[in-house]
Amino acid sequence: MAKIAVIGGTGLDALEGLEIERRESISTPYGEPSAPLAYGQLAGVELLFLARHGEGHRIPPHQVNYRANICALQQVGASHIIAIAAVGGIRQGLMPGQLIIPDQLIGYTWGRAHTFFEEGSHPLVHIDFTEPYCEALRVMLLRAAEMAKLAIIPQGTYGATQGPRLESKAEIDRLERDGCDIVGMTAMPEAALARELDICYATCAIVANPAAGRAGGPLLMNEIVATLKLGMKNVRRLLEVAVGIL
Ligand code: HPA
Repeated sequence: MAKIAVIGGTGLDALEGLEIERRESISTPYGEPSAPLAYGQLAGVELLFLARHGEGHRIPPHQVNYRANICALQQVGASHIIAIAAVGGIRQGLMPGQLIIPDQLIGYTWGRAHTFFEEGSHPLVHIDFTEPYCEALRVMLLRAAEMAKLAIIPQGTYGATQGPRLESKAEIDRLERDGCDIVGMTAMPEAALARELDICYATCAIVANPAAGRAGGPLLMNEIVATLKLGMKNVRRLLEVAVGIL
């Protein structure tokens, strides 16, 4: 049976509607995950929840211990990870609040511990990452959106930047030339680490703002947070339906 974990991002540090039954502090060979794992029921289905940025949103994207997070989820038997991610919209027409399930990924991050395969620790493996997201889980999320009557964009390329600052206009122009539709700060190395441990991983991204230079003015954090607050109710609805059909 699928054991589903949700990694909540900016705007989803706690999963409203999740009836938490217990919390478990886990330690891993890579250190502590961002927060204790929360076990609970969402719409009657058992679920695990992990706040990527820690309780109270303390940990910036470049300092998240991605290895400990993914390793902890593997240790407790998670078979599927639904990652929630706030993103900036690069592709024209992507409006704040829009949900999108990316199917491709480009990593621009640096200096993050990004693999479990280090000298001496494991046999050396070069994972296949042609399709960085788990297609079965992506399809399931799209079906859930249809069932919940939520508008959703079924594919797109996520550009993962280093943060914590937002990008310059020229950086976004470059990402657009590279083919990125959305930009966020956490998909790498998270997605690759999940693949290394053979956990089915997909992202539900929510557009928090037009990316730099796409809205004609500076990006204001309070506006981004307000958009996420509104949009998260759709993410919750999607998750409620999704966990029921997995
Ligand atoms: N850039 C990078 N990450 C983000 C953005 C952005 O514009 N908005 C939300 N997360």
